[in-house]
Amino acid sequence: MNISRAREILKNNISNNLFIHSIGVEEMALRLAVTYGVNGEKASLAALLHDYGKIFSNDRLYRIALENDLVDDITLQEPALLHAPVGAWLLQWELGIDDEEILEAVKMHTTGIAGMSLLAKIIYLADYIEPGRTCPGAKEIREVAFSDLERALLGAVNLTIKYVLEREKIVHPNSISFRNSLVLSLRKNNQELQGYEAY
Ligand SMILES: [Fe+2]
Ligand SMILES: [Fe+2]
Repeated sequence: MNISRAREILKNNISNNLFIHSIGVEEMALRLAVTYGVNGEKASLAALLHDYGKIFSNDRLYRIALENDLVDDITLQEPALLHAPVGAWLLQWELGIDDEEILEAVKMHTTGIAGMSLLAKIIYLADYIEPGRTCPGAKEIREVAFSDLERALLGAVNLTIKYVLEREKIVHPNSISFRNSLVLSLRKNNQELQGYEAY
């Protein structure tokens, strides 16, 4: 799979809005990749294809997930989460992508998880702050994204969890593990977060 083929697949299969979003995620992921020393081609491919699962209906995603035992019960209950792990599975088995890092980045792009790769972190962040995003805090997070990756990621995961809580949706435990890993890592290096220890 090369970048122009990935763009072609997208263009032929997804809505115009989703195409523009995916190109925006690619642009942001590439800039982050340069800043943090991540392979640009992998960043491009993972970004372009991160929402590949959205080509398919929720019913189809649900069926594929069930038939192939791809996800946990929480993901099965929350349609917004399904497109990430099922999308990664489809990239592997339909499009023949076998790069583990790209597959992980796509699989984890909605929840994140503690210990994920730098590529996966960049895709998670780029999805939140691509130029077309106007979601709460996107502007502020964009401002720190190129100087403090973990601070920017914590901002994005905090706001994502807040969004999920406010709508009484299910918070996936991977989002919590991701958030906590960022807090712990920032606490090691950042005086500002030391106060958390008082709780
Ligand atoms: Fe997505
Ligand atoms: Fe996305």
